[in-house]
Amino acid sequence: MTTTTTTPSTVDYLPVDPASKSARIAVIGCGGISEWHLAAYQAAGYHVVALCDLVEARAVERQQQFFADADIYTDHRRMLARDDIDVVDIATHVDVRPRLVRDALDAGKSVLSQKPFVRDIDEGRDLIAYAATHDLVLAANQNGRWAPHFSYLLAAIRSGLIGDVLTADFWVHWPHDEVVGGNEIFSNMHDLILFDFGIHWFDLVSRIFVDEQATEVIARVTTSSNAKIPVPTNAEALIQFDEAQASLRFRGSSHYAEEAGYRVEGTRGVITHSGGYLGGDAVTVTTDAGSETVTLEGSWFGNGMHGSMAELLRALEEGRAPSNAAATALPGLQLCYAALQSARDHSTVDPRTVASVDR
Ligand SMILES: NC(=O)c1ccc[n+]([C@@H]2O[C@H](COP(=O)([O-])OP(=O)(O)OC[C@H]3O[C@@H](n4cnc5c(N)ncnc54)[C@H](O)[C@@H]3O)[C@@H](O)[C@H]2O)c1
Repeated sequence: MTTTTTTPSTVDYLPVDPASKSARIAVIGCGGISEWHLAAYQAAGYHVVALCDLVEARAVERQQQFFADADIYTDHRRMLARDDIDVVDIATHVDVRPRLVRDALDAGKSVLSQKPFVRDIDEGRDLIAYAATHDLVLAANQNGRWAPHFSYLLAAIRSGLIGDVLTADFWVHWPHDEVVGGNEIFSNMHDLILFDFGIHWFDLVSRIFVDEQATEVIARVTTSSNAKIPVPTNAEALIQFDEAQASLRFRGSSHYAEEAGYRVEGTRGVITHSGGYLGGDAVTVTTDAGSETVTLEGSWFGNGMHGSMAELLRALEEGRAPSNAAATALPGLQLCYAALQSARDHSTVDPRTVASVDR
């Protein structure tokens, strides 16, 4: 049996900055989520030197909000031609992102890619191999890993606090149709809930069960008569491991009493959490030593964007692979792709057999 000296209040879950904050960062894609990237980088004291969006006004707005000295581009290739950029943060939608990732790697820059990393595992592996060949870091911005309530959970499990995990159950009831209502791409994305949104939870499950292989995934989705967008907003997934189970329940057009949470049970304890869809401010750990509620610091977007970039910058500084290396995003993607296929075919799917969103 593993022993641990970690107690609930000593679990280390906050982002850790690099020793030097001098790395020069450029951003491609200045849409909705970039506001949170840039707010976090500004708060962390990082240097953003260039902003690029096809729509110039979006880049200019972010410049005025956060980094007044950053240069503005509408053509990413012109920006990438600069030799004073160390890291490119690519925050566009997945459909156009792989080409931008490759262009940035071609230009000799390390890359932080927004999620979902790719729509196809082979495409992801190609990008990962390409980065390795060029000795560059390619990290996936699975920022949920640094959301306080999830980061705490992962760190507590890694420390051995609750023993071996047996079950992990997550639920989210929230008005996603209203959250994305103003964005035409999201509003019409058929796989909005399980893929674009749910990837954070599939990624989390893959990190909780990092040494285990899921054998079956069953998922179902439905549209809902009260939804304000035309795509399915209700979804469920069951993920089967040899000796463990995980479940995800998404209610994405829930317009009253927003609520999200989890209960993760191990051989030596349980961690529970309850909050809004982006998480709450406390977790409760119950073991033989009793039950302790720990107050959490920060928020998903603040800690998440900070943590993802901080880990990439530290990896560059220390000459190692980051914990959010793009390769670590592939197992979660495979669970997600399996869920999409299961929902489409009404079947049970072995995630090892599924290689893309569409197959
Ligand atoms: N918690 C999270 O991690 C989180 C939350 C929201 C969105 N996201 C992800 O972030 C990505 C973007 O989401 P968003 O809400 O910002 O979308 P958005 O539609 O608001 O913004 C996308 C931006 O990318 C720009 N763009 C597209 N192609 C470009 C190119 N070749 N060069 C420069 N700019 C280009 C568009 O003009 C647009 O401004 C998606 O993959 C989404 O899933 C992540």
